[in-house]
Amino acid sequence: MCGIVGYIGTNDSKEILLKGLEKLEYRGYDSAGIAVLNEDGVKVFKEKGRIADLRNIVDESVLASVGIGHTRWATHGIPSTTNAHPHQSTTERFTLVHNGVIENYEHLKEDYLSDVAFRSETDTEVIVQLVEKFVNEGLSVQEAFQKTLKLLEGSYAIALLDREDKDVIYVAKNKSPLLVGLGEGFNVVASDAMAMLQVTKQFVEIMDKEMVIVTRDEVTIYTLDGEKVERKPFIAQIDASDIEKGTYPHYMIKEIEEQPAVIRKIIQEYRNDNGELTIDPTIIEAVQEADRIYIIAAGTSYHAGLVGKELLEKVANIPTEVHVASEFGYNMPLLSKKPLFIFISQSGETADSRAVLVRVKELGYKTLTITNVPGSTLSREADYTLLLHAGPEIAVASTKAYTAQIAVLAILAEVTAKSKDVVTDYQLDVAHELGIIAQAMDELCDAKDEFEQIARDYLAFTRNCFFIGRALDYAVVQEAALKLKEISYIQAEGFAGGELKHGTIALIEDGTPVIVISTQKNVNLSIRGNAKEVLARGANVCIVSMKGLEMNGDRYVIPEVHELLTPLISVVPMQYIAYYAALHRGCDVDKPRNLAKSVTVE
Ligand code: AGP
Repeated sequence: MCGIVGYIGTNDSKEILLKGLEKLEYRGYDSAGIAVLNEDGVKVFKEKGRIADLRNIVDESVLASVGIGHTRWATHGIPSTTNAHPHQSTTERFTLVHNGVIENYEHLKEDYLSDVAFRSETDTEVIVQLVEKFVNEGLSVQEAFQKTLKLLEGSYAIALLDREDKDVIYVAKNKSPLLVGLGEGFNVVASDAMAMLQVTKQFVEIMDKEMVIVTRDEVTIYTLDGEKVERKPFIAQIDASDIEKGTYPHYMIKEIEEQPAVIRKIIQEYRNDNGELTIDPTIIEAVQEADRIYIIAAGTSYHAGLVGKELLEKVANIPTEVHVASEFGYNMPLLSKKPLFIFISQSGETADSRAVLVRVKELGYKTLTITNVPGSTLSREADYTLLLHAGPEIAVASTKAYTAQIAVLAILAEVTAKSKDVVTDYQLDVAHELGIIAQAMDELCDAKDEFEQIARDYLAFTRNCFFIGRALDYAVVQEAALKLKEISYIQAEGFAGGELKHGTIALIEDGTPVIVISTQKNVNLSIRGNAKEVLARGANVCIVSMKGLEMNGDRYVIPEVHELLTPLISVVPMQYIAYYAALHRGCDVDKPRNLAKSVTVE
């Protein structure tokens, strides 16, 4: 969702800010803006639409070595140039960008700013107006900023410019991600290290309820009570090339095709010197001690959790529930006596998941985050973290993070089972099986033309599509439907094969595409029975099965892999099908409408 950048140094800031914003595009946005400050004052450029539209209106002749920038994903007020950030105070002395939601902004308006004429519909404008009000009342800018921050309820990452002082950017954070990047003679601010890898790899983490004074040569962190905080910088472990598309037309297809390498990397990262899979013993102890695991996640990560449940129950013998974070937060079920909470999140920033994490920590329960982003909020705040090692995922549609999440959950299940000598019907040599899977993924990537043809044959002109599966395949069809709908805007639903006849089958008409996944031996015949039911009602049926279970007429047969790990393979054709369907319909594959990569509001 919204992203912020800032630069204070000796070079002209415009291009650094614009390039930084381009790197944040993946987060999702509908307007963007920058403000730059020089001896002539502040110049603000903002525009609805893409960064490319913003570039068109930026005045090249304005040179300024200080600036802030923003991509906005509308929450309060429609996407428009007026509501786009930066926002300015009444006298235009203060200019501010903000990521997050100020929950008490209406009260603040009433209590402090009743005489102010607001220009936008945003919650953000309140912040900049409060700073100006408190400065007018006699406080220094730092004091006014601090006083304002203490009044705010909700989430924020903020960068603020003062027209009267070209040597400082005021920065603050609560719940929304923010880093300060360090350079020689310059410093930068960014929601995500990727935005500023162009100038530095050295960053300092900012914690919730901290305020930072950023000058060209210094970064000083304070608590909201004014106490100085010392914090060591870290080196971002991402390569600038990891976040480039290279020769690929879109990030999504690049990330689909990175999956075999990601699986191999995970095996390597979780293997010890003896070649055995290993996980920090304190994590394994926490899993073993739990009488029930609660997996909390959203979207694709939730779908990975559905597969994780099967793995943890069948391999490690631990009862496991999977919950959608946004529901669990407000409607908690009766918990077991010794629960362990596992948060699955590619970004580690999803606000719905974080809200649950905060709540269960208050209740004193142990928490583990499985994430792709070291140092992310969910990783920092949970007791333990397992990393996905998938490399940056830029496309809004999650692909390699899904398969990495399942692979890491499989390793967790196996290591837990081995360390408590659990014997179930499912003995897994995960490292070996993942090796087979990486190979099978390579084969599927080589067959992408076939999936492009499926997309053409079944999805070119349809307005809806159904995916059906049973058992583990039911988990995958839900992910397949999400992938298709989010990037191609085809209305897609993933159903349990046996459930269709209880209502949804009424929607099947002549030519309705129904994509069937069949990789589970015990339900192979029954899902094919369900396929026949829709075929008899005119559906255009496409069956994707697995070697050993294939039958005449199957459209594609995926290589055979361990029956508990088939989602790692069967999802790949579905990702390609969604990609090509979106491409053929002329959709913006990497940046689908209305969506954001990190959903940082509840
Ligand atoms: C998947 O393609 C989505 N864009 C979305 O559902 C995503 O998985 C969800 O928002 C959760 O994000 P997270 O994994 O970063 O927590």
